[in-house]
Amino acid sequence: MLRFFQACLLVVVCTNAGSELMASEAQLVIAHRGSSGYLPEHTLAAKAMAHAQGADFIEQDLVMTADDQLIVFHDLVLDGVTNVSEVYPDRARDDGRFYVVDFTLSEIRNLELSERVRTVNGQSVPVYPERFPPGRSRFRVHTFAEEIELVEGLNHSTNRMVGIYPEIKNPRFHNEEGKDISAAVLKVLALYNFPGSGQPIFLQCFDPEELRRIHDELLTGNQAGLPLVQLIGEEPEFAPLLSEGGIAHVAGYAVGIGPSMQLLIDPSSVADEIKDTGLVARAHGAGLKVHPYTFRRDAGQIPAYARDFDHLLEIFFDDLGVDGVFTDFPDQVARFVEGEK
Ligand code: G3P
Ligand code: CA
Repeated sequence: MLRFFQACLLVVVCTNAGSELMASEAQLVIAHRGSSGYLPEHTLAAKAMAHAQGADFIEQDLVMTADDQLIVFHDLVLDGVTNVSEVYPDRARDDGRFYVVDFTLSEIRNLELSERVRTVNGQSVPVYPERFPPGRSRFRVHTFAEEIELVEGLNHSTNRMVGIYPEIKNPRFHNEEGKDISAAVLKVLALYNFPGSGQPIFLQCFDPEELRRIHDELLTGNQAGLPLVQLIGEEPEFAPLLSEGGIAHVAGYAVGIGPSMQLLIDPSSVADEIKDTGLVARAHGAGLKVHPYTFRRDAGQIPAYARDFDHLLEIFFDDLGVDGVFTDFPDQVARFVEGEK
């Protein structure tokens, strides 16, 4: 209940909602692709569940269709979580993959969306066997606008303010396909009056050059000040961003970083010897918030240095002092954060 009143207070004092929430001491629960530990990722059902389970923010990965619509979808290809190969068997590229950008929105709406699967010895098996069974019930792909309206609607009907946390997926790929995905995302956000609507928002991307372009060239007028978050992966290409100089550079256009959790604690750590990489301190020193990804409670997903999921959260929130986490289990993180107060 305390979290609810705290959220209300934050909303009341907001002039720039994302920045105010960012500036608070809140420990944010960011629902990664929705409550994806319980329902197929990026379904409206998973988003509604995340809202009900106490998420502060709900994430939208964004990809563009052939007819320039933004869908909430993680991959550039449709094959991992839909039945595209059954519905459109002749539409794969030479690499055997079915690209979102080759299909119109109405074609994509014909597909069944399901829990993520992978192929093992020619058999399709769930990536997370304990999660929602693949192929059960009925889920569809939806647009960014439809999701904004869902979250807004739930904020209204529950009187609880939950933010959105959109991610622009692979702007370079989209550019090669003749599409300016960042401009398209900002256009939809403008239609819904972000960042001035009073609803918190962070806009995230892995591509530092694109974030710089968004900050310097695209965020004009009412959208200036929209808070940006630099995602940082484990790949070598991100190494320059991790140094003090790299972090200072990021602070020139972003308000926070979203690093892989492995970049904060060396994976070789053991329970009695947690090796902090120092990235949280460097980011905080530059005034950046830190929102690592992805916290999963599934079997095999908790690093060996943590006794259990709560211990993992304790290490990141209490010992390292992160400002929020992306999680597939927003109920578990919300319960943990609530217990901290
Ligand atoms: O955006 C934070 C986290 O979601 C990044 O990883 O691949 O799940 O989008 P990914
Ligand atoms: Ca993401």
